[in-house]
Amino acid sequence: MNEKAKFDLDRFYSNESVDKWKQIIGKDLHYHFGYFHGSEDLETGLKQTVRNFYPHITLGSRILDIGCGWGGPAKMLIEEQDCLVTGITLSTAQIEYCQHLGLNVWQQDLEQEQNELPNDYDVIFSLEMISHIRNKTQLLHRLRSSASRLILSENCVADDFSGDRITFGGSMVFCTVSELIHAVETAGWKIQSIQNRRFYSLRTFALWKKNLDRVYGKHQPPGQLESLHRLIDAALSSPISWGHSFPLIDIIAT
Ligand SMILES: C[S@@+](CC[C@H](N)C(=O)[O-])C[C@H]1O[C@@H](n2cnc3c(N)ncnc32)[C@H](O)[C@@H]1O
Repeated sequence: MNEKAKFDLDRFYSNESVDKWKQIIGKDLHYHFGYFHGSEDLETGLKQTVRNFYPHITLGSRILDIGCGWGGPAKMLIEEQDCLVTGITLSTAQIEYCQHLGLNVWQQDLEQEQNELPNDYDVIFSLEMISHIRNKTQLLHRLRSSASRLILSENCVADDFSGDRITFGGSMVFCTVSELIHAVETAGWKIQSIQNRRFYSLRTFALWKKNLDRVYGKHQPPGQLESLHRLIDAALSSPISWGHSFPLIDIIAT
C-alpha cells in the first residue's frame, strides 16, 4: 500500500502530450495490447482486441469502463455496439481528452474505498488496468454492485514466476494467473470463460518499437514512454520465454 501512496499515477499518465502518445500508440490512443493473426497494422490489431469481446456485449449495453485511458475502446463500444459508456480514470490529461471527444467520464482513484462507484450498468469493462491496483479483490468486490457482467483483460505473471512483480516504473504490481482467478472469485464473480491471448498480442511490441524508434531514434523517451521502451526491449530480447512468463488473461464473469 505504501509504495502506491508514493506513486503519482495521475502524473505518470498525464505528463506526456497527447500528440506524443498518438505518435507511439496510434491516433485512437488505445493503450492495451493488440490481437494479431499475421501482419496486420497496429490500429487493426488494437481494434480486434476490443471486437473480440463483442459476443459478450449485447447491443446497446450500459458499460462502465474502468481505467478508460484516452477513451479508445469506449469510443468503439459507442460507435460499433451502440453502447452507453461511462469511463473512469485517474489521469487529468485523459479526462480532458475524453471530454474533448464528448465521452462521459469520471475522474476517480478506484483504489480508494471511500470513493463511491456509479451503479446501474450491464457490463464492467476493464482493459489492462487492474495491474495498477494493489488490492484487486477489494475493487472487484466493490464492482459487484455496479453491473452483472465483468469483462476483464489483465497482464499477469505465470504461477511459477519468481522475478520482481512490481513493474512498469513502479506503477504496477502483477499477480499470478491463479491469484487473479482467486481475486475474481473471492470478490463474488463466477468465471464463465478464461483465456490467455499473450501469443496473439506479441506483435504489438514490434509495432510500438517501430514508432518509438521513429520518434526518438537513439534518444531515451521521456516519462512513461521510457518504461514502455524498457518493457519492449525486455520482451523482444526473448519473446517466447517472455510470453510464457507474462500471460495476458481475458476473463468473462457474471
Ligand atoms: C494501461 S491503461 C489502459 C487504458 C484503457 N483501458 C485502454 O485500454 O486504452 C490503464 C488505465 O487505468 C487507469 N488507472 C490505473 N489505476 C487507476 C486508479 N487507481 N483509479 C482510476 N484509474 C486508474 C489509468 O489512468 C489508465 O487510464
